[in-house]
Amino acid sequence: MRIFLDTANIEEVRQASKLGVVSGVTTNPTLMARAGATDYEATIKEIASIIPGPISTEVVVEGVEPMLEQAREMAAWTPNVVIKIPVNADGLEVTSILAKENIKVNMTLCFSANQALLAALSGARYISPFVGRLDDIGQDGMQLVEDILHIYDNYPDINTEVIAASIRHPEHCLRAAVIGAHIATIPYDVLMKMIQHPMTDAGISRFLADWKNTTK
Ligand code: G3P
Repeated sequence: MRIFLDTANIEEVRQASKLGVVSGVTTNPTLMARAGATDYEATIKEIASIIPGPISTEVVVEGVEPMLEQAREMAAWTPNVVIKIPVNADGLEVTSILAKENIKVNMTLCFSANQALLAALSGARYISPFVGRLDDIGQDGMQLVEDILHIYDNYPDINTEVIAASIRHPEHCLRAAVIGAHIATIPYDVLMKMIQHPMTDAGISRFLADWKNTTK
């Protein structure tokens, strides 16, 4: 499973990139607002200069023509940009047109396996089921990821990759990897928590103390 960073915060992208484990970045309007980023183009270009992998940016207009126009503009910002389009009727229409133009789409705000099937049929490169938001309303978000993977596995000509999104804690990431999600996009703080284990810290202290004692 690959790991993308779910943030528009440049400092977080910079810090996480040093670990050598992050191969892409996803943003959305909320993450842009949280990072204080008003210039989407400059922000995406700066992120891409740090992590060249797929960088998702989301359209912020509605309707087929406005979304198409904005998606085409965004696609020209930097190589490897991916356009986030919501998975509704207009979104499917837009995605099917962009796919024919070889513009990569990450269909977002996916809350059902049927939406994910339609996204794949429309030519989406990625589908983003929102795990945490389903958990929030008392459903099992990770079960949705599992169902989508199962459906996609049934049809080898489907090449859409599943991005487990709306990840809230390390356990989400672990479960996504166990069930075979292609990618998990995770907030910076979750990535940091994945690294930590108190026994690793205790073990390092013990080894260093023993080395000091034996080499006196
Ligand atoms: O990747 C989608 C993500 O940014 C949504 O997360 O925590 O707002 O549900 P959240």
